[in-house]
Amino acid sequence: MSGRLQSKNVLVTGGNSGIGRSIVETFVGQGATVSFTGRDQATIDEVAAAVGEQGQGIRADVSDIASHKAVVDQAVDRFGKLDVFVANAGIAEIRPFVETDEALYDRLMDINVKGLFFGVQSAVKQMNDGGSIVLVGSVVSVKGFPGYSAYSATKGAVRTLARVLAAELAERNIRVNVLSPGPIDTPIIGRQGLDRGVMEENFVPMVPLKRLGRAEEMANLALFLASDESSYITGADLHADGGIGQV
Ligand SMILES: NC(=O)c1ccc[n+]([C@@H]2O[C@H](COP(=O)([O-])OP(=O)(O)OC[C@H]3O[C@@H](n4cnc5c(N)ncnc54)[C@H](OP(=O)(O)O)[C@@H]3O)[C@@H](O)[C@H]2O)c1
Repeated sequence: MSGRLQSKNVLVTGGNSGIGRSIVETFVGQGATVSFTGRDQATIDEVAAAVGEQGQGIRADVSDIASHKAVVDQAVDRFGKLDVFVANAGIAEIRPFVETDEALYDRLMDINVKGLFFGVQSAVKQMNDGGSIVLVGSVVSVKGFPGYSAYSATKGAVRTLARVLAAELAERNIRVNVLSPGPIDTPIIGRQGLDRGVMEENFVPMVPLKRLGRAEEMANLALFLASDESSYITGADLHADGGIGQV
């Protein structure tokens, strides 16, 4: 059976957890060959075992800019030039604006902005014309939630960057779009020091669909943006957020 990403070579950052993991599994299920990165070796191995021969896990930290070229080379050596790059790796940290110190600011910027910026730059050098780049943003680029100042600044930067990259890369028919999740039920909740119940209490009342989103729902949108089904869409910011930023 032919999949929606048959014969496409994909690189996903942060493919060993949450949304990224679901993207890796969904894309492999649709016929793609997928290399993915992450920092935690145990979960990298787990996802690699789950997806088998069509996948490859690579341990790399996106804030280590010098590592990007080697990651892309490893992906290309195994499966060929890239057709799709998904810049998904990211962290979230909550702190009131006046208490946000330089270390927190730098941590968020280094991973969510600088790591993404240079990741795309390395990927694009080894990408086939006609490719697709998906940048994972967030509803926080269009809506202000207390405590998320530095994180929101990173996602605003991602959205802005997408416009320029879409303009520059159009001559190679490479499309660049943003996938902006709302509150999604993934391990990032615990990593912010919240538990799932608190996340639900804080966000669900504001979500018109009255629930957290699921990683697979983000993967389905990533699949659309990665595939030729979205061939006339570039520079866009598609929100999958239960309506929290839209209604
Ligand atoms: N869940 C939400 O509510 C939500 C909402 C809006 C936007 N987003 C965005 O969606 C993306 C994925 O988040 P998620 O919810 O799936 O969270 P998650 O489960 O915590 O996954 C984050 C992924 O990013 C990787 N990562 C983080 N820092 C990295 C680094 N320095 N180098 C390489 N990989 C790194 C993690 O790898 P390790 O596990 O190895 O560290 C993990 O694979 C992020 O960009 C996030 O900002 C999430």
